[in-house]
Amino acid sequence: MIASYKEQFLQYLEQNKYTQEPSNLYEPINYILDLGGKRMRPILTLMVCDLFGGEVEKALDAAMAVEVFHNFTLIHDDIMDSAPIRRGKETVHKKWNLNTGILSGDAMMILAFQCLEKYEGAQFSDLVRLLNKTSLEVCDGQQYDIDFETRTDVTIDEYLKMIALKTSVLVAAAMKMGAIVADASEKDANLMYDFGLNLGLAFQLQDDYLDSYGNPETFGKQVGGDIIENKKTFLVLKSQELGSDDDVKELSALLSEKYTDHDKVEKVKEIFNRSGAPEAILSEIESYTEKALKMLEPMNLPEEKKQVLKEFSQYLMKRTV
Ligand code: IPE
Ligand code: IPE
Ligand code: MG
Ligand code: MG
Ligand code: MG
Repeated sequence: MIASYKEQFLQYLEQNKYTQEPSNLYEPINYILDLGGKRMRPILTLMVCDLFGGEVEKALDAAMAVEVFHNFTLIHDDIMDSAPIRRGKETVHKKWNLNTGILSGDAMMILAFQCLEKYEGAQFSDLVRLLNKTSLEVCDGQQYDIDFETRTDVTIDEYLKMIALKTSVLVAAAMKMGAIVADASEKDANLMYDFGLNLGLAFQLQDDYLDSYGNPETFGKQVGGDIIENKKTFLVLKSQELGSDDDVKELSALLSEKYTDHDKVEKVKEIFNRSGAPEAILSEIESYTEKALKMLEPMNLPEEKKQVLKEFSQYLMKRTV
């Protein structure tokens, strides 16, 4: 099921390559879009449209809008996070340069909105309004993420609000777009959105976990990148809460701009491990996935269709990239 939505989306992506000039603007766009990735957001758009009885083909442009938008955020995020690798290859600003990353990213944001021009009437305005709101929220989240790098007093509530903004709202919007294209009821579309919000929280928590504990051979990003950048992830906040006084003090010294030794990642991970933060994050991932699944209960969908979303959630929890 998941594989077939992905296949359908990839075919559409292949048919809609950006072949126009200037090539220095569009080549990096095709580069990032061709690097692969899980394609989770467009899969969700197509899946939700299908579950609500819509025509999957009609959701392809919305799915494309979401994936192009997501890849735009990745280009700019990699600049902001000084990330060298994305999906196992050089990031756009490394392969080309900073200006290319900025402008190709900007162009992709516009291209994402252009995908929605294929829709008309109420669908068009609902989709554009949703993507407008979502885009600005992602900017808010990204700013908090950067602000937190230099703070030492971030709370778990603040962290959850930040990841909801930078990550969950786009997952939620991807799902709601599928519901909009299928003309689902507003109530069901909103429940789908809430499902996506909670799934997105589980997803970002897992992203944080993998950033420290992923297999460097297969993860596709620089393992330890969040530690190097002093990100205040759930692992850091839980270690602050559960760790010994000495460890908490050392952690704060390690996660500061002043500490640049090559053993930083290992030292921080030792503190994480001693505190029990990895176990805490894994249980949090499960609990947000459970919370997402609760949103399905009042939804007007037959049980076998809800099962598809349950399976997708289970599949996400087992991911390694
Ligand atoms: C990465 O998203 C950015 C986050 C919000 C964590 P994905 O993990 O979906 O990246 P790809 O598209 O599969 O590479
Ligand atoms: C990603 O957060 C959020 C957005 C791209 C908007 P991260 O910075 O954790 O994503 P990765 O780990 O680089 O993919
Ligand atoms: Mg990043
Ligand atoms: Mg980031
Ligand atoms: Mg990350």
